[in-house]
Amino acid sequence: MKNLTTFSLLLTITALLTAAAAATGETPWIQTFCQGNKATTKLHFYIHDIRAGPNATLFNVANASITATSPTAFGRVNVFDDRVTVAPDLGSEEVARAQGTTTSMDLNVQAYSMNLNFFLTSGALKGSTVTVIGRNQFADEKRELSVVGGAGAFRNARGYAITSSYSYEEVNNYSVLEYTIYVTTPRRCSYIDRS
Ligand SMILES: *[C@@H]1O[C@H](CO)[C@@H](O)[C@H](O)[C@H]1NC(C)=O
Ligand SMILES: *[C@@H]1O[C@H](CO)[C@@H](O)[C@H](O)[C@H]1NC(C)=O
Ligand SMILES: *[C@@H]1O[C@H](CO)[C@@H](O)[C@H](O)[C@H]1NC(C)=O
Repeated sequence: MKNLTTFSLLLTITALLTAAAAATGETPWIQTFCQGNKATTKLHFYIHDIRAGPNATLFNVANASITATSPTAFGRVNVFDDRVTVAPDLGSEEVARAQGTTTSMDLNVQAYSMNLNFFLTSGALKGSTVTVIGRNQFADEKRELSVVGGAGAFRNARGYAITSSYSYEEVNNYSVLEYTIYVTTPRRCSYIDRS
């Protein structure tokens, strides 16, 4: 019964937030739902992977002996510090940096092992980090990665991330990737937390 009440409260809050978002014409990039001793934060934003040109934020670190002849560029390691924005366009408000490495690690299909830290640079939880790892198979429309922890407001976090490719431009080898992340932490919170 208690769970049901919590659940309907959660539904009501979701409905209110959705209504508020609809009124302003945009979905909030961060929303926190409080449930007793747990807080679940939903993050939604876009990563900008620019691999060439003067504004590049992703760089090749190393190749393996097999990389050049491998159909999946097996063994390639990249490092990045990507801009993360509320909307798909590069010029929209920056709310985080996506910092980490990717390693091509499947001999047969294009897939990367992700080491991804979302460092929030805006909002009530500014300065907190969400850590995401997992297997990212690019041919799949939606890929699921794991939230394995975090720092600051996200200490002891668990959860998951859903990502998909939003757009690609040949010029500067530029990809935009959409991320929706659900992060649950064992902390008390107030609805004021959301921003
Ligand atoms: C690089 O970024 C600057 C500042 O945002 C912008 O004015 C410029 O057009 C960008 N250059 C390219 C090649 O995208
Ligand atoms: C890795 O190989 C690519 C070509 O396959 C090359 O462009 C790049 O410079 C190499 N990276 C390093 C760090 O040697
Ligand atoms: C774009 O970047 C990917 C991944 O780093 C690389 O494999 C590919 O060769 C690049 N393409 C161009 C046209 O530079």
